[in-house]
Amino acid sequence: APLAGVIGLPIAHSRSPRLHGHWLKRYGIEGSYLAMPVRPEHLADVLRVLPRAGFVGLNVTIPHKEAVLTLADVVTDRAALIGAANTLIFRPDGKIHADNTDGYGFIANLRQNAPDWDPQAGPAAVIGAGGAARAVVASLLDSGVRELRITNRTRIRSEQIKAEFGARLVVYDWAQAGNMLEGAATVVNATSLGMTGKQALRVPLDALSSDALVTDLVYTPLMTPLLIEARQRGCRVVDGLGMLLHQAAPGFERWFGQRPEVDEETRQVLL
Ligand code: ATR
Repeated sequence: APLAGVIGLPIAHSRSPRLHGHWLKRYGIEGSYLAMPVRPEHLADVLRVLPRAGFVGLNVTIPHKEAVLTLADVVTDRAALIGAANTLIFRPDGKIHADNTDGYGFIANLRQNAPDWDPQAGPAAVIGAGGAARAVVASLLDSGVRELRITNRTRIRSEQIKAEFGARLVVYDWAQAGNMLEGAATVVNATSLGMTGKQALRVPLDALSSDALVTDLVYTPLMTPLLIEARQRGCRVVDGLGMLLHQAAPGFERWFGQRPEVDEETRQVLL
């Protein structure tokens, strides 16, 4: 039976085993999905050994998402552009294929939960410029967003993203984050602010139009302070849990040969 899993450090908190375990059971697939703590100095050995031990692939999380790119034999364009991979496929010919499905998961979540969302309806505004934000930016540009505004506490990181992703990006100062929302059709929190135990994201929403779609990558809590306030203002809001579910689907399909469904039952497994 095929084996897959997730590597990271720490890894005990990962919800991926529950998600993939649910799908394996649901489709009656004989296979296993394991969480494995891996130290950075062991990453190369682990990637060499696991295929020989029956593994067909892995999910990859912090701190290995960047390092696996240098160890993979084939890197998809989007993983290269984002600078990180979250899904590895161990091919029968021994080659390691690295992909990044975070951007796909981000867009699939919006399409499922806000079917009339139109990426071309107006500018997108992305708050944050870390690893997750890079995947979001790549996928929004792919979806046809014509103007993408970005702001980050550490301004240089948004400028770096603009330098790599190009002319459709407009960098806003962190102090101007509120102004960035004016006329925006899509608003994304890609920082960790608003997560349980962290500060709330303090961006004034006065300029936010009620036509905007607002989404958050944070999913603990499901309804972040940003989403609560945006909903009060009449905006459509989409929580971040669906991104986690959807980003997992392509890996599961490649490893186990069955496209898994992301539905309410799947969501309940992770709540
Ligand atoms: P991830 O891969 O989840 O995006 P990351 O690369 O560490 O993780 O990025 C975290 C994001 O949250 C960054 O945009 C970070 O801003 P900085 O680049 O200035 O660090 C943002 N962030 C985290 N804590 C923050 C805080 N207290 N105030 C403002 N932004 C914060």
